[in-house]
Parts: sequence; C-alpha cells; structure tokens
Amino acid sequence: MQAITAIASDDEGLALRWQNGTESHFSWLWLRDHDQGPESLDPSTLQRRVDTFALDETLRGSDCAILEEGRAPAVTWPENGLCSRYSADFLAAMAGIAAGDWDTLAGMPQRIWSGRSPLKLQDPVPYDDILSGAASGGQEGLRACFERLQRDGFAVIEGVQTDEATARELFNRFGYIRETIFGGVWGVSADITDYEDSAYSTEYLEPHTDATYSHDAPGLQCFLCLEFDGKGGESILVDGFAIAEQMRAEEPELFRVLSEVPVPGRYIDTRQHLRAERPAIRLDGQGRLLQVSFNNYDRAPFWLGADRMKAFYRAYKSFHDRIVERDNWLTVPLRPGMALIFDNWRLLHGRMAYSGKRTFCGCYHNHEDFESALRNLGWSKGPVKS
Ligand SMILES: [Fe+2]
Repeated sequence: MQAITAIASDDEGLALRWQNGTESHFSWLWLRDHDQGPESLDPSTLQRRVDTFALDETLRGSDCAILEEGRAPAVTWPENGLCSRYSADFLAAMAGIAAGDWDTLAGMPQRIWSGRSPLKLQDPVPYDDILSGAASGGQEGLRACFERLQRDGFAVIEGVQTDEATARELFNRFGYIRETIFGGVWGVSADITDYEDSAYSTEYLEPHTDATYSHDAPGLQCFLCLEFDGKGGESILVDGFAIAEQMRAEEPELFRVLSEVPVPGRYIDTRQHLRAERPAIRLDGQGRLLQVSFNNYDRAPFWLGADRMKAFYRAYKSFHDRIVERDNWLTVPLRPGMALIFDNWRLLHGRMAYSGKRTFCGCYHNHEDFESALRNLGWSKGPVKS
C-alpha cells in the first residue's frame, strides 16, 4: 500500500510526495482523463466513458486534497464541479513507484530455472483435485496448476483417464481450446501421417517453441499421454526466459541482436502455407521478457546483408548452445494418464527419441486467455471489476 504525504498543484498539474520521499508529477489532462468515477469509467466493464478528445488541454483542477490518510488524493474540476478521487496504489504504479505495473501479474512472480538454479520436479497435481474442486465450487487443483504455470512455466497432472473425452474435459479447464490447422484436440503419434511435421516421428526432437509461423503463437500447450509401450520419449523442457536472461547478462550485444532481428517461421503442406516473423527474444516496452520463439526446423529463409547475418548467426548459435546444454533441461517421463501443460511463450519443449508405441493427444490455448485466468485468480495488481 502506497501513501502520499504531501500534495501541491501548479499550472501544469499535480505534484505528489510519497511516503518514501520520492516525488511524482501528473498533468491535469491525464488526471481528468483517468478519473475513476462512474461518469468517466464504467464500473462494470472498466471501459472509458470520459470523452478524452472533448477535454480542454488547458484545463486545471482545484481543491486538491489527500483523503483516507494518504491513500486517496482528490481533485475538483471547476468546469462541472466533478470531484475525482484516485487510488494511491494506482498512481504509484503509473509513476513507477510501486514494483510492477497496473494490470500485470506482479502477484505471482516467475521463478526462472536452469542448470545454474535447478528446479526440482514437483509431485504431479492429481486430476481428482481438479475435478473435485470444480464440483465443490473450489478450484484448488486448478489453482495449483496455474500457480506452477506462471511460476515455473509448466505443470504436470496425473491420474487422468486416457480417452479423448476426458482429455477434452481437462483441457477445457484451462480455457477454451484453440482451433488450429491441426484441429482443436489433436493426436501425436508416429502412426499419424496427416501432417508433414517433425513431431510426428520417433526421433529426438530438439527443444523448440511451437508455431513460430503463427502471428500469435499458442500460449499454453497441453499434452496427455494416452498410450506408451516402449523406451525413451521423455519430454524435454527448457526455460527460455532463463536462457535469455543469461545472454542479457553475459552477452548483451548478442542479446540485443536476438531482440531486434525478426526471424521468420513457416509451415507448408499441401493445404497450408503459413508464415510469420518476430525476434527470438521479444521484449515489452520496459525491456522485460515477453516471449521467446525458437524453432530451427521451421525457420524460413531471410537475408540481412553479410555483417548483420554474421551477427545473427553468432547470437542464434549462442542461444542454441544454451538450449541444448543438458544441464538446462528438465526431462519429464510422461506415462499413460499423465498430462503436461506448459507456457509456449516461455518454455521450449522437445522429446527424446523413443522406440515402441507412444500416443499423445494435445491442444493449444491462447496466451491472452492464460493471462486472463491468472488475473481472475487474483495475481494481478489491477482493478477488480464490480
Ligand atoms: Fe512442438
């Protein structure tokens, strides 16, 4: 909770002094545009009602005060007598005083892991805990999965019946299933010959992210092991955010190349020709990691000129070297009835070679829906809608 100890107005706006001694300044126009009252902001949808473009850019407030022991600065607008009351937490987040931004998932931080800070595989979440939670109105099993997904990038579930109807029921708990060129719930087995993709084989699959050829790569990827009678085939997970942060710290120039150069991906078969591009490391406006994309199988041709291409290959190789470093791997031996769900914007996944018969089914969810679920579980700093 942030508190304001002093408030002062000038021609340009409002100056606030915070409890920790720092100061912030907000312009009158911004303050009027961000009035939190029902005349300006729909209390149910949080959609803006104020007509931003009808506001006079020379407007200024009056009667500035701090209410609720520093938690609620207030301003009156002379043109209509409206009194705007703001949450100090909201203004602190906007000013960068508080850790994390408004609307972000600051309440459930990520724990990045690699060979340098290894993660011990937790006991799987029992599927019964997900089912029983739904029946009683509680969501403990599901909540545990989302907590692991956000913190570690993945969750493992056990005790799932090995049929497609149950798989669909499980997958639906995490959000609506995304339709793709592979369908909604799809199968993975070396017996499937419908798709000309490396996933449908028995060979070792190098860690990668899925759908570098999609403008909006799936956020969550789910697998349920339906059948396995053979050897090998462990799922490989790599924390791409840990790899990216290692590069940012140790090879900042190569990190910069990977965050700037758009890398195209493509998927081509007899019916589809998809292509999209984005940097291997995608950052938000504040330089924080948003997404990693790496799939050398699906990389499409591009040419940047000799010097830039040389820099790209060097950076891409360093990224790859860290990805295939086994110390950075977590291997998960999935057996029938076990499900693996992971964040495809953060983790890379692969598979060891196997022999015998192995059948999985799986699906995708959008990343924005995953984020929405996390906010609804109360892990964001954002406002709660009435
Ligand atoms: Fe994949």
